[in-house]
Amino acid sequence: MGEIVLAAKITHVPSIWLSEHSKKFKGIRQNAIDGLVEIGRRAHDRKVDTYVIFDIHWVVNQGFHLNANAEHDGTFTSHELPHFLNGMDYHFRGDPELAEKIAELGNARNLRVMAHRVPGLGFEYGTLIPMHHMNAAGSARVLSIAGNQFASIEEGRQFGEVVADAIRESDRRVAVLASGSMSHQFWPNHLSAAGINEVNTEFNRQVDLRVLELWQTGRIKEFLAMLPDYRDRCFGEGGMIDTAHLFGVLGWDTYEGSGEIIGEYFGSSGTGQVNVVFEPSEPSTPK
Ligand SMILES: [Fe+2]
Repeated sequence: MGEIVLAAKITHVPSIWLSEHSKKFKGIRQNAIDGLVEIGRRAHDRKVDTYVIFDIHWVVNQGFHLNANAEHDGTFTSHELPHFLNGMDYHFRGDPELAEKIAELGNARNLRVMAHRVPGLGFEYGTLIPMHHMNAAGSARVLSIAGNQFASIEEGRQFGEVVADAIRESDRRVAVLASGSMSHQFWPNHLSAAGINEVNTEFNRQVDLRVLELWQTGRIKEFLAMLPDYRDRCFGEGGMIDTAHLFGVLGWDTYEGSGEIIGEYFGSSGTGQVNVVFEPSEPSTPK
């Protein structure tokens, strides 16, 4: 029987790559990198087989899509921010079996789920940046799942539940990651360079901090009640569907755990970012 060994909301900002590869910006995202490395270390200690990543940068407009390729090789340059992130080589094993299992279960529950084994379907940076630091040796498989920007929060919950059930029916030890922002309001163009380390608007920053407080104190029901408004008023990245999936995986409003912030909340090009671990309800027992 499979198991969710760890769950987390994580950052994937491309300035992480800049922080490593640019002299001018050296170290600006060390806090984020250290958090990713620490979460990867915990997953590794719990003998993770597969990272399932809800990647908000694999943007789709309908249905739920999984990259079910068995191998993932490539060199990634961001079309969105090529001056931040370019020339990232990657190689990871995929998890076609788990992908098929999720699709099978999702379709049985009338969600439109597609597991793709097709050439040319590469990873996006919501998967690649975290994996670069969490799974540097490539010892665990990687299953990237798209974020449907038009899915409702309720559909997000249902699909998360499907993923959790499929994991339990598999033989995999899985770390589930919601790779997406908190508030997500970019700066106007003329302010973008100066605002690289800031959150755009005090309102967004304050709401993010309140959300973190709710997560840390285990007030998940209250958070879920505000999630639709949080998404709308704080410019949710991809409709915050990654967050809906994550809590769907954790059991939604029956989840009794709390969030542990790894490192510090920070601003990045106007958006609010953080790494937060949520212990799954059933404790992990590595063999
Ligand atoms: Fe993003």
